[in-house]
Amino acid sequence: MQIKPLTCSIGAELRDVSIADVAKDDALFAEIKALLLKHRVLFFRDQDITRADHVAFASRFGDLEDHPVANTVPGYPGLIEIYKSEKRDHFENTYHSDASWRANPPKGAVLRCISCPEVGGDTIWVNMVEAYKNLPDDIKAKIEGLRAKHGIEHSFGAVMTTEEREELVRKYPLVDHPVVRTHPETGEKILYVGPFSTHFINYHTPENVRFGQDKTPGASLLLNYLISQAAIPEYQVRFKWEPGSVAIWDNIATQHYAVSDYWPAPRRMERATISGDRPF
Ligand SMILES: [Fe+2]
Repeated sequence: MQIKPLTCSIGAELRDVSIADVAKDDALFAEIKALLLKHRVLFFRDQDITRADHVAFASRFGDLEDHPVANTVPGYPGLIEIYKSEKRDHFENTYHSDASWRANPPKGAVLRCISCPEVGGDTIWVNMVEAYKNLPDDIKAKIEGLRAKHGIEHSFGAVMTTEEREELVRKYPLVDHPVVRTHPETGEKILYVGPFSTHFINYHTPENVRFGQDKTPGASLLLNYLISQAAIPEYQVRFKWEPGSVAIWDNIATQHYAVSDYWPAPRRMERATISGDRPF
């Protein structure tokens, strides 16, 4: 197996390896798991595999989960369809960590390209450990111990009726997560806010809020500043898909952005999502 890092910050392509072999090869699995923790997102080209292989590979890393809005591939629990057609149904073109609106957000995912346009539809991943590390010291001090709510309502719920949206929120109420979370396997600190974050829940202290102006605007300016860090190119890798390309990412340490520049061309991807634990 050859390992080719793609940037100085994040991402490596693994060559001369089939992810179908990982299901039955413990040493190969251990090597790939270590590389994932190091590079945060791994890419494989020309994978001639089945859906069962896709699910088996992802399952080595943990239990799989479905999605409340995306369709599950019939007969393959834990594998969801991300199929784009001439309909304008692009929701993934924002920097985000998948499903941070869950109390236990997924720790990783495996995305496979079934078909894609000749150009367009790249995906960008961001190293959120680097994003935290490079914050100014005064910001690091300010956000220490801060927590933010995350919700599904204002993203996936936006196109629903009020009744559907209320039902969605009953099933997935706002959850609160640390703004800086710790990686359970590497101990690294990670900036963990994004577009699912709605507001800070413990910002309104005498130190932070002297006047009314500091309260909502002060908190939302800081939240937006933190969210904007994912857009810094030095923390990113951009991957061009081909049919048979596969990516696996650490959903704790990274965010990603699906570039939606190819409409109305179709694009068909399938994702296996690996369940995670409560952030700390
Ligand atoms: Fe995503």
